[in-house]
Amino acid sequence: MAGSAGEPTTVTGHPHRFGEPSVHPAWLPSEAFRALGSRRVLVHGDGPLVDTVETEVTWACSRFGGQALVAPYRDEPVDLVLALRWAGPLPAPATRALAPLNETGGGLGDEGFLLTRVGDTTVLLAGGPAGLLYGLYHVVRLGEAAFDPGLPTRRHRPALRRRMLDHWDNVAVHPLMGQVERGYAGGSIFWRNGGPRRDLARIRAYGRLLAACGINAISVNNVNVGGTEARLLTERLGDVAEIADVLRPFGVRVHLSVTFAAPVVLGGLPTADPLDEKVRSWWATTTRQVYERIPDFGGYVVKADSEGQPGPLTYGRSHADGANLLAEALAPLGGVVHWRAFVYNHRQDWRDRRTDRARAAYDHFAPLDGEFRTNVILQVKYGPIDFQTREPVSPVIAAMPATRLAVEMQVTQEYTGQQRHVCYLGPLWREILGFRPWGEEGRTVAAVVAGEPAQGPTRTRSGPGGGLVAVANVGDDPYWCGHPLAQANLYAFGRLAWDPELDPAAILDEWIDLTFPPTATEDPALVRETVHAIMDDSWRTYERYTAPLGVGFMVNPGNHYGPQVDGYEYSPWGTYHFADRDGVGVDRTRATGTGYTDQYPWPWRDVYESPETCPDELLLFFHHVPYDHVLHSGSTVIQHIYDTHFAGVEQVEAMFRRWQLLAGVIDPALHERVTDRLDEQVLSAREWRDHVNTYFFRKSGVPDARGRRIH
Ligand code: GCU
Repeated sequence: MAGSAGEPTTVTGHPHRFGEPSVHPAWLPSEAFRALGSRRVLVHGDGPLVDTVETEVTWACSRFGGQALVAPYRDEPVDLVLALRWAGPLPAPATRALAPLNETGGGLGDEGFLLTRVGDTTVLLAGGPAGLLYGLYHVVRLGEAAFDPGLPTRRHRPALRRRMLDHWDNVAVHPLMGQVERGYAGGSIFWRNGGPRRDLARIRAYGRLLAACGINAISVNNVNVGGTEARLLTERLGDVAEIADVLRPFGVRVHLSVTFAAPVVLGGLPTADPLDEKVRSWWATTTRQVYERIPDFGGYVVKADSEGQPGPLTYGRSHADGANLLAEALAPLGGVVHWRAFVYNHRQDWRDRRTDRARAAYDHFAPLDGEFRTNVILQVKYGPIDFQTREPVSPVIAAMPATRLAVEMQVTQEYTGQQRHVCYLGPLWREILGFRPWGEEGRTVAAVVAGEPAQGPTRTRSGPGGGLVAVANVGDDPYWCGHPLAQANLYAFGRLAWDPELDPAAILDEWIDLTFPPTATEDPALVRETVHAIMDDSWRTYERYTAPLGVGFMVNPGNHYGPQVDGYEYSPWGTYHFADRDGVGVDRTRATGTGYTDQYPWPWRDVYESPETCPDELLLFFHHVPYDHVLHSGSTVIQHIYDTHFAGVEQVEAMFRRWQLLAGVIDPALHERVTDRLDEQVLSAREWRDHVNTYFFRKSGVPDARGRRIH
């Protein structure tokens, strides 16, 4: 069907001083700047981020025939004013427009902006330099609509203060994981063969993309910290500083994953005990040195006592002791610790039915609520297991009202098709962010990570929340993500972190119009319609042909790609489905199972407890049921497995056919690359269908009610 993966031919790298990376422009092709670049634009303010805005505007105007106005200003009409609130004397052309706004433009925060129309001018007033940058990209996103006389006045502010990506990038190539652990887009953009890659143009281009979707923080190395990576904190700090310097003009703060054993492996101390004075002073000194080199350093990310990483439990200390040790060193310098809650027993015996990996994060951390310093952010994976296609929302999120919580998503598609399958994750994340752990009357997950306090007498901390974090999905692939359509996941993550209430389909509209600008496409309506038809429901399609009804895993061990129902069934990792000849699923009830449902507040503790009320899509996560158990949908479990697997494959085949409609309409190299990936997705989906259906047919002995051939 498809030839070799194509390289981008329409490279519209940015021909200004940011350099010209030879990569796909993703959601910032030159053409996306046409509306802005063909106008008279005035930028007003000072500072490095304002310089970035000025550079963008100057470049866009030179490209599209507009005019970038710089000081001294003449009193002439302008189409767009981009101004910082209270940035000195107001420029003449905008005085009339800005003066009244400047009075009322409070409450924007440093990252917010106000967009309005005054006379014939569109005016954007930002609360701080970062707001000006976000405002600029908002105007780009709006295109011509930004200049519509009927443009409504709107204030924009991010709902979440912290919007972060974790790069699981290794500096040295890992023998099993390669350069990027769970990376599906080639090598790291930061590191190569044990050292910095120094492709600064690429990092700048990345910074622009991050700012244009609202991300303001990254960590630059893997949470599993190897020997070479550990030294980024000390002797190799210069390599990190270089990245921070490049990303600073885009409002992105750099963080580092550190090993808890650093005082031993780097400092030569005999212990890393968090209560040891020498250990505390080692962290304090080391952290000060980091800030001398990187004054706006964000902080540390720590995976401790997890999957073999060192941690405080070795010394008989708690996770709070461990996190507070680093927090104490960072606090005077304005940094935070992202302490991960991904802690569980990875040496489980499959015969032991009482130990339940799903319970682990809550069991470890809930008792510590209130013990963490205010600059500790407890980073909790969205589900209790591990980034599966479908999991319930982690009960930890409701259990720690006195702790600053961040939720961790996975933009890299480890368990969702590894960027070989189209799987648009916006709908999954939207569902999680909108979930209400305390039922209809309570806050959403988004409100918890935003730091909004609960109503009523509940003991909740006040102050900023921990925000949203995701594992990044980019690499040195010319399309950034391996799969060009996987760019939409990165974009959507940033946009949802900015506004968790956005509709994933509307985010996709933004992404499509930016990436395939209507002014540069022969048939924009066809592009939109086709990309929506392929992507909108692609997460649910992926779910249909993979592990059924929330049970998870069933993948090949190690690489986690492709079907193997029993791949993890007898392993020590604690991820089982317990299928036998009579039924399938994990009993996590308090009545007869592992007691996991007890970790939820009402109403979910009751909703999940009974198969009568448990949502179908999570049935096998919570219950072990016979194959003839009837779902709310009316189908039996076994028939549901057969039907969804047949339907999933048909949908992927339809995706492939639809994509062919865009041949000759969009860039041929990009088209070919996606065709290539869809080709693989069709083959892989068929493999999943046949593998899963055969397995359950053989186990259960129940034939397909519709008489289809099961291989
Ligand atoms: C998953 C993933 C690992 C990763 C771990 C983590 O288990 O497979 O590669 O290290 O998550 O989140 O730390």
